[in-house]
Amino acid sequence: MPRPARLVPAVASALALALTLTACGGGSARDKIGASGVSDPYFPKAGNGGYDVTHYALTLAYDSTSRRLTGTAEIEARAKQDLTSFNLDFKGMKVTVAEVDDAPARFHHSGHHELTIRPPDALDRNATFRTTVHYSGRPETITDPDGSREGWLRTADGALALGEPVGSMAWFPGNHHPSDKATYDITITVPEGLKAVSNGELRREETKRGRTIFAWRTAEPMATYLATVAIGEYDVRRSKTANGLPVYVAVDPDQSKASAKVLARIPEIMRWAEENFGPYPFSSTGAIVDRANDAGYALETQTRPVFPGAPDTALLVHELAHQWYGNSVTPASWRDMWLNEGFATYAEWLWQEDHGGDTAQATFDALYDHGENTYENLWAFPPASPTSAAHISGDPVYQRGAMLLHKIREATGDATFHDILRGWPTTHRHGNASTSDFTAYVEQQASDEDFSAIWDDWLYGSGKPDHA
Ligand code: TRP
Ligand code: ZN
Repeated sequence: MPRPARLVPAVASALALALTLTACGGGSARDKIGASGVSDPYFPKAGNGGYDVTHYALTLAYDSTSRRLTGTAEIEARAKQDLTSFNLDFKGMKVTVAEVDDAPARFHHSGHHELTIRPPDALDRNATFRTTVHYSGRPETITDPDGSREGWLRTADGALALGEPVGSMAWFPGNHHPSDKATYDITITVPEGLKAVSNGELRREETKRGRTIFAWRTAEPMATYLATVAIGEYDVRRSKTANGLPVYVAVDPDQSKASAKVLARIPEIMRWAEENFGPYPFSSTGAIVDRANDAGYALETQTRPVFPGAPDTALLVHELAHQWYGNSVTPASWRDMWLNEGFATYAEWLWQEDHGGDTAQATFDALYDHGENTYENLWAFPPASPTSAAHISGDPVYQRGAMLLHKIREATGDATFHDILRGWPTTHRHGNASTSDFTAYVEQQASDEDFSAIWDDWLYGSGKPDHA
């Protein structure tokens, strides 16, 4: 048989996967293999094809002395195609057992981050199924393409899980792409004296024989990069906003004094945000404050953002605004990051405008005139098209994303712009949306305006636009 001189990459990788599976489970011509990525333009191997997760039940135990995590992930999903095998993204940990619908399943955990599972019986398209993965080990800290550290971070008194964009595969197996959102039960057992804080609502806290169990539930859909666990010593303060929303704030005792005043403003910020962005999409709010050196970035972890050190008011406003922009309406791919960061940055501008500071117009003008003095890379690439995976958190995504929103405000006037700010997260509540969904939405809300020059100059165009 003549050998092809060269295989195209897609064929080569499909072949490699088929060979892998032959090695672990006897492949055949009738294999229906779920893809090992969802072809994200910036992270092609993130996520997996062939199924959609509906719920993660993670049962974890952590020993902060040995730094060992022992976990069971029960993942409920629906098959989107017939499947003889499928992948989960999972990095580093040792998998001991995998089951599908309670039956032992063959698996192969490749060096990088793909855990391939072959259920004993093939799954039919549309079937719902539950995958159980037992694992343990010392979870890894992952350095992401922009150089920041995430995944599982060791902190002064415990650990912290951060996941944007690629960290969550360090501590639970999953479909780690923003397009597949699910509900969660996260239960963590820690040595008595420590606390374990996560997303959503605390359903149970119980100490038995020197260990404390914390059971958290996230009842609304959440992307995996927004899941967190914070383990350590925390001062916990529970309260309610004026309209009865539970507030759960956990602060490293080292940061208590420095953060008390700003965290007391959460109810006030939530009320302002609801007026501007519409009804809050989740069932509780709050914050987790660790020490400044514990993490390299703040993150809008769902319902309960994480801060390395006491935040200032602007950062608290930013992360709470993400609950609407990013967490409820979540980007369809990592290319659409500006939909998160442009809005969260614009929320800071609006807060300032409403509280006696610079108007958004003044902020825009200052950025246009000499923004590159503060944001070196401000004009380096268009917000809707970052240069590479290392740039999805770059200045244009945040600052120029916010400038684009201001251009829309100038074109539509304040009333329509306000409708757009509220309507966008309402229309896509608990869903996913892309940049083209956004431009279509704006065009529909202000149908007598022509936005094409704004999109060309501010969203897709290279370099500094000619006119402010
Ligand atoms: N979303 C975080 C914030 O603005 C920052 C961040 C961390 C980030 N990792 C990222 C932004 C990756 C974009 C991409 O508070
Ligand atoms: Zn942000």
